[in-house]
Amino acid sequence: MASNESGTRDKVVLAYSGGLDTSVAIQWLQDKYNLDVIAVAINVGQPPSSDDIVARALRNGAIKAEFVDAKKEFVEDYIWPSLKANAVYEDVYPPSTAIARPLIVKPLVEIAQRESAKYIAHGCPAKGNDQVRFDVGIVSLDPGIGIIGPMREWVMTREEEIEYAQEHNIEIIVKKDNPFSVDENLWGRSCECGVLEDAWVEPPEGAWGWTVAPADAPDKAEYVDIEFVKGVPVAVNGKKLGGVELIEELDRIACRHGVGRIDHVEDRLVGIKSRETYECPAATVLIQAHRALEFLTLQKDVLEFKKTAEQRYSQLVYNGLWFGVLRESLDAFMDTTQEYVTGNVRVKLFKGSSMVVGRKSPYSLYDEGLATYAKGDEFDHKSALGFIYCWGLPNRTAAKAHKKQ
Ligand code: ARG
Repeated sequence: MASNESGTRDKVVLAYSGGLDTSVAIQWLQDKYNLDVIAVAINVGQPPSSDDIVARALRNGAIKAEFVDAKKEFVEDYIWPSLKANAVYEDVYPPSTAIARPLIVKPLVEIAQRESAKYIAHGCPAKGNDQVRFDVGIVSLDPGIGIIGPMREWVMTREEEIEYAQEHNIEIIVKKDNPFSVDENLWGRSCECGVLEDAWVEPPEGAWGWTVAPADAPDKAEYVDIEFVKGVPVAVNGKKLGGVELIEELDRIACRHGVGRIDHVEDRLVGIKSRETYECPAATVLIQAHRALEFLTLQKDVLEFKKTAEQRYSQLVYNGLWFGVLRESLDAFMDTTQEYVTGNVRVKLFKGSSMVVGRKSPYSLYDEGLATYAKGDEFDHKSALGFIYCWGLPNRTAAKAHKKQ
């Protein structure tokens, strides 16, 4: 890999976060592969950074640097579909890191195509899921683009990376010794490494970055009313909000009650079990509320089948198969189920817990006349005996037959 026929250097589009790894990668890709680097920073709802990372990428040798704000697209094209599917990996982790990867891959591929770049590079290490999500996402969209994973290739420790940066005058912002590896976006915060690697050790308070400790949360419960239209949340406490604002608002509310902390030992796609903590305040409340509204508005057989499809959906998101026919087909199924998932859900937040305490819908299938044990009962009691006779008939028949033996 070197200069091409016209004598200019080939190009690589680098998924750039402004952190140590990808800052070093700008230089390393030039040294090792003799490539021109186009750095692309994609905003998926990370906390705002005070320095201009795009300008810094240029100072560090990128020939071009771009900033893509993908928050709205993230919510509308990735988060809401996953909410309709109640996607929760292994029934524990709303796959917040995972679902942002295809969102990031898309503009990387588009920019690589526009810039006629031969390669895309990302800073994922060789032991994780994210490299799979990036690589498989890229080949699914454009199999002609080569992929470079600097972190999979170099053998530098963190200290050596810092040395390398100093030797090459790379401007870096080294955060105070943070013992954890953290990934953040609108749908959640992931945290691993350090003491968390001992699965028996309780996550120290310092591992949590968004939520207040449940013990320090207000002594008074707070209620939040979420309105959904066709499976998509549209208002919080009566206030209509766009998707990004709605998630941010729910995050604020749930965080102050310590809601959304998750501690999990999960199965990575690459066969390793790993311990990670998550903070998914808005996701926790929204998935809970959405499921409650589905229990009110969907028929039993749909709920049962959907559960199986939901599990498959969460695995597929986790395993990096977003850009595929199965996910598209499952989305079509999920959309059909959401036709009547419209209404309001009331959630009570209190010292780390969230609980659905009320739900209503113009399409509610809950019929008080059928359910009540009080006056006004409309259920046809006479039908019960006939139904039970038929329902129990196989067991009655078997019991008789087995007794004869
Ligand atoms: N284990 C999660 C996943 O694979 C999060 C990975 C990123 N975590 C991190 N702390 N850097 O989806």
